[in-house]
Amino acid sequence: MIGETSVQIIVVGNVKGGTGKSTTTMHLIAGLLNAGYLVGSIDLDSPQATLTRYINNRRDYMAHLGIALSLPEHKVLTPSIAKNRDVAKEEDENAIEAAIEELEERNDFIVIDTPGGDTALSRWAHSFADILITPMNDSFVDLDVLAKIEPDTFKVLCPSQYAELVWENRKNRMQRDGRSIDWIIVRNRLSSLHSKNRRAVDEALTALSKRIGFRIAPGFSERMIFRELFLKGLTLLDLRDPEAGVRLNMSHIAARQEVRLLLEAIGLLSSFSGNDCLNVEDEMKEKLA
Ligand SMILES: Nc1ncnc2c1ncn2[C@@H]1O[C@H](COP(=O)(O)OP(=O)(O)OP(=O)(O)O)[C@@H](O)[C@H]1O
Ligand SMILES: [Mg+2]
Repeated sequence: MIGETSVQIIVVGNVKGGTGKSTTTMHLIAGLLNAGYLVGSIDLDSPQATLTRYINNRRDYMAHLGIALSLPEHKVLTPSIAKNRDVAKEEDENAIEAAIEELEERNDFIVIDTPGGDTALSRWAHSFADILITPMNDSFVDLDVLAKIEPDTFKVLCPSQYAELVWENRKNRMQRDGRSIDWIIVRNRLSSLHSKNRRAVDEALTALSKRIGFRIAPGFSERMIFRELFLKGLTLLDLRDPEAGVRLNMSHIAARQEVRLLLEAIGLLSSFSGNDCLNVEDEMKEKLA
């Protein structure tokens, strides 16, 4: 039964699309694997299935170069095709529970990537989260799914769609096993410019965090490297420490530091060591030479 093992469930969610959920999920998975944990992963965003493609790319790239990288035990769930809405909801909920029950037997963590939008699969997955990570782009458009904001003063007026979904799942979780969800907002694609907009989003988020109960983790800047690694299935955490002599540029090193700060904020960094990362770059150079 779910909750009887010590597995930690991390859900990455936001009803808003394109905020960096799958990119963040893959980096969390790599961070946990590199720290020596066994990780199960679930992709609820079929047919887009970005996380699944990311993991498959990682497997293919490993096979292509003959190198070994850790992989999660991965599952993809597709929404029920039942015509009756209640039946479909029940089938989706059962599918989530069966997947978690199976993965929790063999893994320390289960990381779940969810689609943009509000689906039955995603909603039910949220209710099992020990940690909920919500990436959001640094804009009032993204903030809108969390709260209504007064346009002149930027004051928080009331929680909106996604904050309400999380609230409902916190209640479900509390009723089911008396535990709470640690909700962490991660600001993604931050611009290097400290604009008036960025300060205003900062202030609104800080006000909202107290009101609806989330923590704000250090975010990721807008960087090409987050897009470039997808085709190889790699993350910044698979690349070697700069001290070891591999030439990473300053932007890559800064990006990797941002990922580490996120792992630290979640409470995973104590057992995370950058030196454990495989020296993928050297291995790649050798194989390709
Ligand atoms: N920090 C970043 N810098 C640059 N590009 C980024 C960054 N984070 C994500 N991206 C890019 O933004 C796009 C959306 O990211 P991603 O697919 O992770 O979002 P998502 O929330 O999973 O989207 P969806 O809701 O469609 O599932 C991708 O092209 C990704 O490579
Ligand atoms: Mg996605």
